[in-house]
Amino acid sequence: MTGTQGSPAGQATSLFRERFGSQPGVRTSAPGRVNLLGEHTDYNGGPVLPFAISRRTAIAAAIAPDWAFTSTAEDAVVRFSLDGPLPEGGARYVAAAARVMRDHGVTLPAVNFAVASQVPLGGGLSSSAALLVAALRAMAALAGRKLTLKTLADLAYTAEHDVVGIGCGRMDQWIVSLGRPGHAILLETATMESHHVPLPTDVWVFDTGARHQLTGGHLNDRRKECQEALRLAADQGVVVPHLADIPLAELPRLERSLPSPWINRLRHVVTETHRTRLAGELLARKDLDGLGKLLLEGHQSLRVDYGSTIREADLLVEALTRHGALGARLTGAGWGGAVIAILPPEREARIVAEVGLAFQAEFGRLPDVWKTTASEGVRTER
Ligand code: GLA
Repeated sequence: MTGTQGSPAGQATSLFRERFGSQPGVRTSAPGRVNLLGEHTDYNGGPVLPFAISRRTAIAAAIAPDWAFTSTAEDAVVRFSLDGPLPEGGARYVAAAARVMRDHGVTLPAVNFAVASQVPLGGGLSSSAALLVAALRAMAALAGRKLTLKTLADLAYTAEHDVVGIGCGRMDQWIVSLGRPGHAILLETATMESHHVPLPTDVWVFDTGARHQLTGGHLNDRRKECQEALRLAADQGVVVPHLADIPLAELPRLERSLPSPWINRLRHVVTETHRTRLAGELLARKDLDGLGKLLLEGHQSLRVDYGSTIREADLLVEALTRHGALGARLTGAGWGGAVIAILPPEREARIVAEVGLAFQAEFGRLPDVWKTTASEGVRTER
């Protein structure tokens, strides 16, 4: 989407007036997210460690005679019904959110939505969860209903997983709803217990520019492989409810008996679970060197065992390491998206420049690079 300049809420309001010819009744916004560690663990019963970023998706909305969606990324106004097939593009998510709201007993005649986003689409930073959660919050406000942040996260998960049909876990909707300035969240997805952990650093985002399409894609395939790995482990006598529950100590034995690719997926999830819990402890002690090392190990695990990295991301992580980053790794689902890095503040300008040149030498263009702090989750805009 366009619109990385200025306030997204202001842009959404202007777009609403321009395309629908009236004033919005409510404005909401929700952030994208960076996942520090815990990749592909959330649909395997493991922990995740994300935070809400400063880039947001804003929605201006109003009750209207029919359901309609428009955004700064698309020229058209897309009209849809809640019972017909899901529309394409961003409207798909908003239509899914509207159905889930209706099923939750929040009834509205119909709503017009105008969207402006600073979160790159398909960039591994949860553009879809930001859109879903902002849309749900807007509909709740228009219906005069106050839904808790956890309910919004639950409804957004149902919309993305059950209605749109993406084999995602619960991390993105949770952090986009419950994010807090200056904090990451350590969420245990088996129990949905979570707590905020102070994040004592900025995080750099190096966008590879490569984009993924999740629907029906790699994520769904990996999810099936993980289920099969769990079954194969049970055949070897390791019977647990989730892949993330397999103890590290069982790995050597399973490595002798399970074939590829199942052992690789299993090893990633089991070691990543260990790294993520350790990362939560290191953050609490403000040990950024230790955290950085875990990020690098996490990236290698994604590259070697999960097969979800891409050449652009591997090059960025290698160049960042060579030029002095404390740690770096591909964040989000993978097969495209962005690398995150923790840089020593006194050397950050130099590292960004050197790494940009290394990327340009290989791919003929510069990566989009920006810095983020941990920010607030969904909110209603005044
Ligand atoms: C996507 C999904 C998340 C999570 C990540 C991988 O972002 O939406 O639930 O599974 O991939 O960690």
